[in-house]
Amino acid sequence: MAYQTLIVEIDDYVALIRLNRPEALNALNQQLLSELGQALQEADQNDKVRCIVLTGSEKAFAAGADITEMAAMNYDDVLVSNMFGTEIEPITNTRKPIIAAVSGYALGGGCELALACDFIICSDSAKFGQPEINLGVIPGIGGTQRLPNAVGKAKAMDMILTGRFMDAAEAERAGLVSRVVPAAKLLPEALAAARKIAEKSLISVMVGKECVNRAYDTTLREGILFERRSFAGLFATADQKEGMNAFLEKREPQFRDK
Ligand code: CAA
Repeated sequence: MAYQTLIVEIDDYVALIRLNRPEALNALNQQLLSELGQALQEADQNDKVRCIVLTGSEKAFAAGADITEMAAMNYDDVLVSNMFGTEIEPITNTRKPIIAAVSGYALGGGCELALACDFIICSDSAKFGQPEINLGVIPGIGGTQRLPNAVGKAKAMDMILTGRFMDAAEAERAGLVSRVVPAAKLLPEALAAARKIAEKSLISVMVGKECVNRAYDTTLREGILFERRSFAGLFATADQKEGMNAFLEKREPQFRDK
């Protein structure tokens, strides 16, 4: 499907989704969020996709929700329309892994979009921030919950209440991103990570993703029980036999997602 605010390419079992509103530094307007939801659903259902990379431009992953769309809105408009209440669900409902490849600004809703992905790889030019406080509001796409999960209460409060940006080095120290690479290497690095994931059994990839996400949704006791059941369940798959036999036979496994 053709999109106006995204560029989607599928190659080697990886879908690369680029946010493409350069005139507004990829600000997340309703059209972009709606197209992103469609692109993610299509990728999740496409057998030729086993991992997804979400990226922006070198200058901006996304500079936030679109302020021009929000400026004139009132309390009742935002409440009744449930603005941003469901737009991020296609990300959290996607069962295949999503890597955010972030260069430049990831601010406000842009930072929250990256946080909703499974992990973030960023370039050394990346700047993360929740500057909504400067606009008289607060993060509205999960930032007050996912940012403390990612970086702890102290840094999350500092960023959300002062509006200051975090550079790539601080983001890596804080655990917000998994890797920092030079800007020119960002996409090759993210695509290589995605291809590495695409080589695994899709069943164990999806189950592993579900289990890690449980850590943020439930108690430790329930999460561990979910892991125990999921771990045992994988022994019903042919891919478990293949993976372990391949190790013992000193060869590469041939997973079939069975
Ligand atoms: N919404 C709408 N348009 C935006 C935008 C946004 N979030 N961010 C940037 N743009 C537009 C600018 O208005 C500008 O458009 P024009 O050329 O038509 O004037 C264009 O993108 C380029 O931006 P700048 O000229 O400002 O570029 P810069 O390099 O000087 O500054 C920046 C870059 C520091 C990122 C600055 O653009 C900026 O501060 N942007 C806003 C960041 C922000 O406050 N984000 C939070 C939004 S609210 C939110 O996200 C709520 C939520 O949680 C759901």
